[in-house]
Amino acid sequence: MKRVAVLISGRGSNMRALIAAASAPGFPAKIVLVISNVVSAEGLHFAAEAGIATQVIPHKAYRSREEFDHALNGVLEAAGIEIVCLAGFMRILSDWFAKRWQGRLLNIHPSLLPLFKGVHVHEQALQAGVRVSGCTVHFVVPELDAGPIIAQTTVPVEMEDTPEILAARVLGEEHKLYPAALKMLAEGKVRLENGRAVFAR
Ligand code: GAR
Repeated sequence: MKRVAVLISGRGSNMRALIAAASAPGFPAKIVLVISNVVSAEGLHFAAEAGIATQVIPHKAYRSREEFDHALNGVLEAAGIEIVCLAGFMRILSDWFAKRWQGRLLNIHPSLLPLFKGVHVHEQALQAGVRVSGCTVHFVVPELDAGPIIAQTTVPVEMEDTPEILAARVLGEEHKLYPAALKMLAEGKVRLENGRAVFAR
């Protein structure tokens, strides 16, 4: 079983979905550590109650992105982490960190990448007038929201949608997609090779 850390900054609903999925018999990965850069992240309480080790690494305590990322890397290595899942982790990681963990670092983003990167994703989707949106799990590379795609799910965009309504519809799918993508990576059904996601037949 692969040892997984989940990195959060807030609510942690994707983290909860990963914890729930990983607790099922036969799941090829175990969530052993939850790390937040924000001390008040609500997700930390749930993780602690689920008996999972938690750690806060406040980014403000570090002088630079690189120093924060080295501290983060130290914690991950000390815990014997093999896969890192970013789940609402609202902090850009350095090129060094992305390269250090390449092929073992996943992110979930609430749009059909490469559309609508960054923040205010659902506002961007509604502004563009797309008729479908969705979510993407991808390998993290140094460029933001740009890594090779592992899995995507679509949802319809309805005429009366607000960013909040669309976000909730997408989030429901995120909670299914992220555990499925983590399972694929942990089982070796997908890997990062020459900058592409390669799937086992
Ligand atoms: C999720 O919708 C996730 O896709 C998004 O933040 C939300 C976190 O919710 N992530 C990003 O926008 C990253 N670029 P959660 O804390 O309840 O999982």
